[in-house]
Amino acid sequence: MLRISVLRLLGRSGASRVSLLQDSGPRHYGSSSLGARDDAREARAYFTTPIFYVNAAPHIGHLYSALLADALCRYRRLRLPSTAATRFSTGTDEHGLKIQQAAASAGVAPTELCDRVSAQFQQLFREAGISSTDFIRTTEARHRVAVQHFWEVLEDRGLLYKGLYEGWYCASDECFLPEAKVTQQLGPSGDLCPVSLESGHPVSWTKEENYIFRLSQFREPLQRWLRGDPQAITPEPFHHAVLQWLEEELPDLSVSRRSSHLHWGIPVPGDDSQTIYVWLDALVNYLTVIGYPNAEFESWWPVTSHIIGKDILKFHAIYWPALLLGAGMSPPHRIYVHSHWTVCGQKMSKSLGNVVDPKTCLDRYTVDGFRYFLLRQGVPNWDCDYYDEKVVRLLDSELADALGGLLNRCTANRINPSGTYPVFCTTCFPREPGLMGPSIRAQTEDYDLVSAVATLPKQVADHYDNFQIYKALEAVSSCVRQTNGFLQRHAPWKLNWESPVDAPWLGTVLHVALECLRVFGTLLQPVTPSLADKLLSRLGVSATERGLGQLYFLPRFYGRPCPFEGRRLGPETGLLFPRLDQSRAWLVKAHRT
Ligand code: MSP
Repeated sequence: MLRISVLRLLGRSGASRVSLLQDSGPRHYGSSSLGARDDAREARAYFTTPIFYVNAAPHIGHLYSALLADALCRYRRLRLPSTAATRFSTGTDEHGLKIQQAAASAGVAPTELCDRVSAQFQQLFREAGISSTDFIRTTEARHRVAVQHFWEVLEDRGLLYKGLYEGWYCASDECFLPEAKVTQQLGPSGDLCPVSLESGHPVSWTKEENYIFRLSQFREPLQRWLRGDPQAITPEPFHHAVLQWLEEELPDLSVSRRSSHLHWGIPVPGDDSQTIYVWLDALVNYLTVIGYPNAEFESWWPVTSHIIGKDILKFHAIYWPALLLGAGMSPPHRIYVHSHWTVCGQKMSKSLGNVVDPKTCLDRYTVDGFRYFLLRQGVPNWDCDYYDEKVVRLLDSELADALGGLLNRCTANRINPSGTYPVFCTTCFPREPGLMGPSIRAQTEDYDLVSAVATLPKQVADHYDNFQIYKALEAVSSCVRQTNGFLQRHAPWKLNWESPVDAPWLGTVLHVALECLRVFGTLLQPVTPSLADKLLSRLGVSATERGLGQLYFLPRFYGRPCPFEGRRLGPETGLLFPRLDQSRAWLVKAHRT
């Protein structure tokens, strides 16, 4: 049971605030100024990851959240000219009961725990190539200023009151739970303990006087926002889930705790006996990064995209937009939601001892290999299962054999002795399919390949837009297979450069395959930046020729000049991606266990 009784009202009355919100609705989501806002959105974008709890070391789920944001961000940089500004923030969530308790049980001061684990996240993200522009720690002074200012705005707008809060609190999830979301489970000592139905984490009964936010007033504004912007939460099933939640009444939300109980946090301005609820504190990080409360934040705020895991959807899709509306701001532009990684079918947890260490994975599979695996296999709509053999199988087949093999097949000295991008012969491969003639060598399947690769950038763009990065990679991988099929079909290794009949066709086959590789390398940059760089460098593609704006596939086929024709390939620098299965001793061990 969750009971709130109002003791004291602060600021203006709630009723006047409701009408204010209804009036201001269309200003935020109306279409009148859409054109201008879209332009602003193209010129700037602000991506965020959740900020990570520092109670334990990072695991692969955390890295996955950060990688999704990184790939979106890198993709945008590739798509737009350098004048478009992209900001990308990540960081650590360091306050709250969870951290206070973790520090106490480790016998260290909270600051010591925070410094240590925050540094681990920073190092991991550096190693994994997370291209963030900002890293925030909620224990920083700039953040305290932002949170206290945000609090005062809510207070001035009459959206906070003091009341008695009584209900269940889950310290692990840092959230209040209604009775219906609590169940009993056998604890370690054989007694029945109350736990959260959703997370299985222990809960405890709390009864205290807190500050309470008038969340209940925001149900309709939130519904209007979501109904007016069907892509606000992507993928769609999560958007739908939030609208379903909003079918029910929204209870007001307790936004502070007694300082005697929770001292590790930011004090309520003007009332040291209360500490600000850690989720309010944490969510404001997105504003702190862009300079809030200084006016500069306004040029970044409307273009914000949050990347989050499904477990924190309610906080980002209900509490946060309501708090923002309450403070007179618009909800975030997009909330991209992903599901979770399990390990051998089980939830990852310290108590089960099955937490996968991302650093070990980056060492074993290489940075690009592991980035590729997580993004190729991670499906936002569903949970995905992790096991080592799956990584090895995927990377060996898609990066080492298919992509690496393809590169090798068209650059190896014995097949391409001149070490150049050969000339494309329009007589051998005319633009019009189905023509007959002695010099025409292209077959129907070859036209299918050209059309598949020509439309690949658009497909990839759509998948990124829909936050289905794995589908973008699946589409690339399928084209890689098709290109290998093309080489297999025409067996350039059986053709002879010395023969005037073979030579133009041999050059054309290699030219087409190299063009396909150039497209694949360009499109893979957001996911496997070093591997893509190695591939493009081997093809002789310069740094200024790697953007999506310059990606004209097979221009000679379409009647335009090709800047690569006749150009020297880049130097040979070894295998694109060495196979993993024979070379790693640890794998033998993993097979045995
Ligand atoms: N501190 C809060 C977020 C505050 S944001 C204002 C938090 N931290 S967390 O460390 O628990 O989780 C951070 C992110 O990692 C979340 O997006 C969460 O969904 C994600 N993951 C945690 N475990 C995960 C998996 N097993 N798999 C994939 N992502 C996972 O929540």
